[in-house]
Amino acid sequence: MDAHTTSPRVAIVTGGSRGLGRVMALALRAAGYAVTITASGASAALDEVVAEAAELPGGAELLLPMVADVSDPKRAQEVVDATVQRFGGVHALVNNAGRGMRLVSETFTTDPVHFWDVPAATWAQIIDTNVNGPFVMSQAVMPLFLAQREGRIVNVSTSAQTMIRPGYAPYGPSKAALEAMTRSWATDLAGSGVTVNLLLPGGAADTELLPSGPDRKGADGNLLAPDVMAAPAVWLCSPDSALVSGARVIAKLWDPALPDAEAFTAASAPHVVAG
Ligand SMILES: NC(=O)c1ccc[n+]([C@@H]2O[C@H](COP(=O)([O-])OP(=O)(O)OC[C@H]3O[C@@H](n4cnc5c(N)ncnc54)[C@H](OP(=O)(O)O)[C@@H]3O)[C@@H](O)[C@H]2O)c1
Repeated sequence: MDAHTTSPRVAIVTGGSRGLGRVMALALRAAGYAVTITASGASAALDEVVAEAAELPGGAELLLPMVADVSDPKRAQEVVDATVQRFGGVHALVNNAGRGMRLVSETFTTDPVHFWDVPAATWAQIIDTNVNGPFVMSQAVMPLFLAQREGRIVNVSTSAQTMIRPGYAPYGPSKAALEAMTRSWATDLAGSGVTVNLLLPGGAADTELLPSGPDRKGADGNLLAPDVMAAPAVWLCSPDSALVSGARVIAKLWDPALPDAEAFTAASAPHVVAG
């Protein structure tokens, strides 16, 4: 709950219908947030998150599902407006929606695709979701965040190796752009009360971003449970992380048994885009 009112804090989680977004949305709901989730299309998965949220204290009333493509500025604004209308405000935005290399090839993990063989339309689709999406969603919440002198933006990124791994373009480079955006935005936001941070699983996670079957594993052979995102996402959205901006947090290193500040220190990683 908000420290000054009985209204719940409010979060928007893009791409909340499955995978990491589903975990973060339900963790925020369980932590008492009212949550809007988005997906680019209607799906049984989206309906299932609504049903799961209905089982939590506060029930279905505190979860708003919206079909909205993050790369569409008009829909981004409509997501923010609908959230304000339903819940009375927005305190946190988790830019999680992402498109991966399966759009390029179902066998990208075993047969890397050269960048020149990636169809231009597919390249644009991935960049639209992974780079332009966080921009238009963040732009839509910023007037609200600046006016209330409080807000949390959490940008979901990937491991440094993935950004430059052969056959991972444009997915890898799209996340390198997101990391550069985050660092630059943190500088813009200094002193505003609004924070922006990076959160990444710290390896391949067991979601539909990766092919199904035996090829669903990371380059190191491991596969993380999506649940690793829950505790750090909730903390980064909370008032407790007010002094943290421009950080890069590796979810698998977050130990929920530790006090949050200690867990944050242990899970903080150096920037990929340094300077
Ligand atoms: N899984 C991993 O190993 C891993 C590792 C590092 C980082 N990540 C990042 O984690 C984030 C979540 O990915 P995930 O692994 O959970 O993948 P996922 O299971 O494929 O989920 C992606 C989510 O984003 C939604 N989405 C995709 N494009 C969208 C768009 N244009 N507008 C609105 N929603 C959209 C999807 O719903 P619809 O398809 O219905 O639109 C779905 O809800 C991504 O940013 C990804 O890059 C994943």
